[in-house]
Amino acid sequence: MNSAKTIGILTGGGDCPGLNAVIRAVVKSAILQYGWRVIGIEDSFDGLIWPNRYRELQLEDVSGILARGGTILGTTNRGNPLAYRVPENGKENVCDFSDRVIRNAHELGLDGLIVVGGDGTMRIALELYRKGLNLVGVPKTIDNDLNATEISIGFDTALHTASEAIDKVHSSAESHHRIMVIEVMGREAGWIALEAGLASGADAILIPEITFDLEKICTCVRQREKAGKTFTIVVVAEGIDIPAAGGSGSSTGKRLHPQPGMAANWVAEGLARCTGRETRVAVLGHIQRGGAPSPFDRILATRFGAAAIDLVAQGEVGKMVCLTHGAIGQADIAEAVRITRCVDPHGELVRIARATGICFGD
Ligand code: F6P
Repeated sequence: MNSAKTIGILTGGGDCPGLNAVIRAVVKSAILQYGWRVIGIEDSFDGLIWPNRYRELQLEDVSGILARGGTILGTTNRGNPLAYRVPENGKENVCDFSDRVIRNAHELGLDGLIVVGGDGTMRIALELYRKGLNLVGVPKTIDNDLNATEISIGFDTALHTASEAIDKVHSSAESHHRIMVIEVMGREAGWIALEAGLASGADAILIPEITFDLEKICTCVRQREKAGKTFTIVVVAEGIDIPAAGGSGSSTGKRLHPQPGMAANWVAEGLARCTGRETRVAVLGHIQRGGAPSPFDRILATRFGAAAIDLVAQGEVGKMVCLTHGAIGQADIAEAVRITRCVDPHGELVRIARATGICFGD
């Protein structure tokens, strides 16, 4: 029998579909299974830095949120407590608030903290765990680039959103005999581009993991034309490297801070120039982060949320819940952030894509 505990939960980093489903599972499992209290921390770690930014979550607070996008707790991808930017006299001071976070967590009486986040949030969580905060991570990111789990919350829904959008663009491209370039999210990893491109019959896919030459995409367009296809669908991950103005047309690596639309516009302009064909751009942007979570994400979020509470009960802190071969497991947070989980350019999905005629520009 576990003694009564008080558990905190926060959501950090960019929002995604399924966060509310995790909060609901954590609250329900903590209260119904263990008889514990749950405190919701607002706006990621900000709620443990500034006063009065938390509230107790009862069962009625999580009623009806399973299918709702966003997070009832709020989030931020800017407030790193280890290097917090505080404006002062027109300047910005960078402060380390980690001790304050730990002190406030103790004053709140938290026996454990559930941290729902992507790689940035897990890196912060790891530092705080090493400084003595008892926490358990839950992976979420539409980019699906967290190591140690085969899938994170939000990816499946974003994949559906992107695939549906590409399907819609497809019919328009066909009707107008155009090249359509669709930009999806994916800063360091091209999972959304690869899987949505596969699911929607893209002709070319550009991802940060595969160095491309735009001339090869032009050749793909010309070959399609020879075969009687007067339109081409190109799916681009926002994080592909694009040369500076006047560059060669070859990619050299990844851009870690992409501006929405830059990659797709650069590709579209290049393709219009070399093929002479009318070209249009669709940038999906934050649409991919919104909406109701898919049934898969709802179930995954529920499994992860309940499993995170079990880990706290077992005293297994410093861990992140994960999915391995379809089963719920646990990994050290250190392992989750050790490397970025990128697309394997020689992996099965890329091979299948190539086998079915998709061009990667290499
Ligand atoms: O990491 C998730 C992500 O959605 C990236 O794909 C994207 O580049 C970034 O967040 C956008 O962040 P922001 O909400 O700050 O624009």
